[in-house]
Amino acid sequence: MAIRLVSPNCSDLFTPNLEIGSFPDGDSHVRVPNIGECAGQDVTLYHRLYPQQNDALVELLLILDVLKQVGARVVVVAPYLPYARQDKKFLDGEVSSAEVVCNLLYTMGCTKLVTFDCHFLKAEGEFTYGHLFIDNISLSGRLIEHAKQVFGDSEFEIVAPDQGALYLVKDFGGKAMKKVRQAYQGGKIHYREVESLDIGFDVRGKNILMIDDMISTGSTILKAIEKLKEAGAVKVCIAAAHGFFLKDSLEKLRGACDGVFVSDTIASPAAAVSIKEALTAVNL
Ligand code: R5P
Repeated sequence: MAIRLVSPNCSDLFTPNLEIGSFPDGDSHVRVPNIGECAGQDVTLYHRLYPQQNDALVELLLILDVLKQVGARVVVVAPYLPYARQDKKFLDGEVSSAEVVCNLLYTMGCTKLVTFDCHFLKAEGEFTYGHLFIDNISLSGRLIEHAKQVFGDSEFEIVAPDQGALYLVKDFGGKAMKKVRQAYQGGKIHYREVESLDIGFDVRGKNILMIDDMISTGSTILKAIEKLKEAGAVKVCIAAAHGFFLKDSLEKLRGACDGVFVSDTIASPAAAVSIKEALTAVNL
């Protein structure tokens, strides 16, 4: 049985037993109080990497280093993997930050990363990305189960807002819309607006559950709600594994559709599906 190490940001999952804080200048400080017990052992380390992903990543690297020094074999459970969206180089001089992060974890001694709906994998299962071994768990089934309570006796169809999210819905009879993004614009915030979203199938008179892997600024899902309503959908509820809900997007989404819920990979007021049960089903 592996030794369980729990970061304070995973206190909803287990009782924390790691000390994580910072020095007065902002540098991170970590301590594994029971490091003696971890020597040469299998360790499962629970640590969220969002919000404040850069700090959280440094904290994780520091903890991994302490554990590496005592020869522990470490499985990291990080419910959301930051930087997963930049797995391609779109512009000259860019970096595949997804690969950099995965290789850093591997180099620091992570033998396996357990995460949920990792953006660049687009399937549930075990993968090697860069050098890192990843167990990617999909939350789509649990989101759909929750939707049954939300819709009550009413039937609903399942859709994804783009082809990248098709893997979340296809095993449940779902279909995906087609999304085109604009080119990246200059400026400090690196982002591509949604240019168009086409449905491509009939939603008239139907209730719709729309699932995406993540809701960040909300622009994808807001546009998709608008399209579904224009095309005659009756009720539209939206769900995602990861809910960032940047700025006032949650408020806007709640005003635009009939229900919004996500899992608690990231803490949010819309979190309704717990990852705790999903984790108990994994061999850790
Ligand atoms: C895109 O490929 C993702 O699956 C999401 O659709 C997207 O990242 C969500 O971002 P936003 O909420 O900013 O549209």
